[in-house]
Amino acid sequence: MSYLIGIDLGTSGTKTVLFREDGAVLAAETIEYPLYIEKNGWGEQDPQDWWAAARDSIRSVLNRAAIDPSAIKGIGISGQMHGLVMLDRGGNVLRRSILWLDQRTAKECAEITEKIGAERLIRITANPALTGFTASKILWVRANEPEIYARCAHILLPKDYLRYKLSGEFATEVSDASGMQLLDVPRRDWSDEVLEKLEIDRSLLAKVYESPEVTGAVSAAAAAETGLSTGTPIVGGAGDNAAAAVGTGVVRDGTAFTTIGSSGVVYAHSSEITIDPQGRVHTFCCAVPGAWHVMGVHQAAGLSLRWLRDNACAPEIERAAALGIDPYAVMSDEAQKIAVGSDKLLYLPYLNGERTPHLDPDARGVFFGLSALHSRAHLIRAVMEGVSFSLRDSFAILEAMKIKPELMTVTGGGGRSPLWRQMLADNFNCPVQTIDAKEGPALGVAILAGVGAGLFKSVAEGCDAFIRPGKIQTPIAENVAAYNRIYPLYRRLYDDLKTSFKSLARL
Ligand code: XUL
Repeated sequence: MSYLIGIDLGTSGTKTVLFREDGAVLAAETIEYPLYIEKNGWGEQDPQDWWAAARDSIRSVLNRAAIDPSAIKGIGISGQMHGLVMLDRGGNVLRRSILWLDQRTAKECAEITEKIGAERLIRITANPALTGFTASKILWVRANEPEIYARCAHILLPKDYLRYKLSGEFATEVSDASGMQLLDVPRRDWSDEVLEKLEIDRSLLAKVYESPEVTGAVSAAAAAETGLSTGTPIVGGAGDNAAAAVGTGVVRDGTAFTTIGSSGVVYAHSSEITIDPQGRVHTFCCAVPGAWHVMGVHQAAGLSLRWLRDNACAPEIERAAALGIDPYAVMSDEAQKIAVGSDKLLYLPYLNGERTPHLDPDARGVFFGLSALHSRAHLIRAVMEGVSFSLRDSFAILEAMKIKPELMTVTGGGGRSPLWRQMLADNFNCPVQTIDAKEGPALGVAILAGVGAGLFKSVAEGCDAFIRPGKIQTPIAENVAAYNRIYPLYRRLYDDLKTSFKSLARL
């Protein structure tokens, strides 16, 4: 029997999963670590915490499964994208990592746009300068901590730091590298033009591989620390969303997934590169060699419903506790009793500003149309519908880019609600399905490891072997028609309120 390991370095913790070659989970372990928020809008983590979590979680799954570690044929690593890891010549961490959620670099983004030109930047890196991405973080350290920058010999992404600790190699892969804003995304290699204009030395950056390629092997030192076998191959792996795509089988044209986690993501596979000239959705290389993905990101999807649960749904929480079930299941049942359209109550889910389609940090949440008729159940349904409309915004941009998914896989906590999945089917006018797996990105990179180890001939073949599709729900014609009537008003509300959001921010 052969085994594969998938590691996912998330923002709240690192999860290691040991899979059997037929996809069965033998053991999984997640270890959490702190997020340091020193100032409003900042967010940092210590790469040494990531390594400790990876090392201990690997050791734990090996102990629990009690298998011969030399039967592990490959390791894949996935992780939060965009974070900046800086190492000195000896491979020591120079400062805490500045993460994807850190918003300190507005000035550096303006500098990048000015030096490269807005259109040219989108043409090369497939995205406008964004505070979340890595390039602006590098410029920030150079401007604000020049003594650290002077000692920096290696720049890595979060998951690639784990690779370095496991194998001693400085390597990355195309999907995660796409989020650095230094990669020529159509050519799948670092952009000399961007590096020259930003005066970043190419030698600081890691070697770029395709996601299923073997980038190195477990070193004797890492074997001693983790219990792995020396020489176990480590493949490129993928950024968390590209890895989740593999883990949900979204690896062919016409397939796509939607995540309703804290944030929301609408992700579509594309064998041709397509870039939104307005930069409202991200185009990145995906984990399938030679292919890309287009992705819209929404700041407060599941977070909107959590906010409502925590601030207005004490009775539902109480009822759920009495029944021994999840409060969201009770909330979903309540929402089910309300008609499509929530009796003319609309919700804009902009609790944390919005990325797609507005790129507006000042936008805020809104209930529109409240009347004395409305109950708490209406609020719940309106929130679920508002989030569905916002995800429809991404879906509509994809359609305008001629990417038309034929089937949408729905994942994340919100995806467990059949009602929410139906709202997506009705808004996208596209069948939706679930999959029978909770491992997400860790499953995706284990499949990539199986490709690198030669267990599967292609990423698609690995997905077919590992992933068990769940139930399909199809659009309901009368709901589609009802949402088609309401959605234009939802769209107009942001335009009507745009300047008011700015005034609110200035108050
Ligand atoms: C993608 C993004 C997040 C992070 C953290 O652009 O910012 O998905 O990868 O999970």
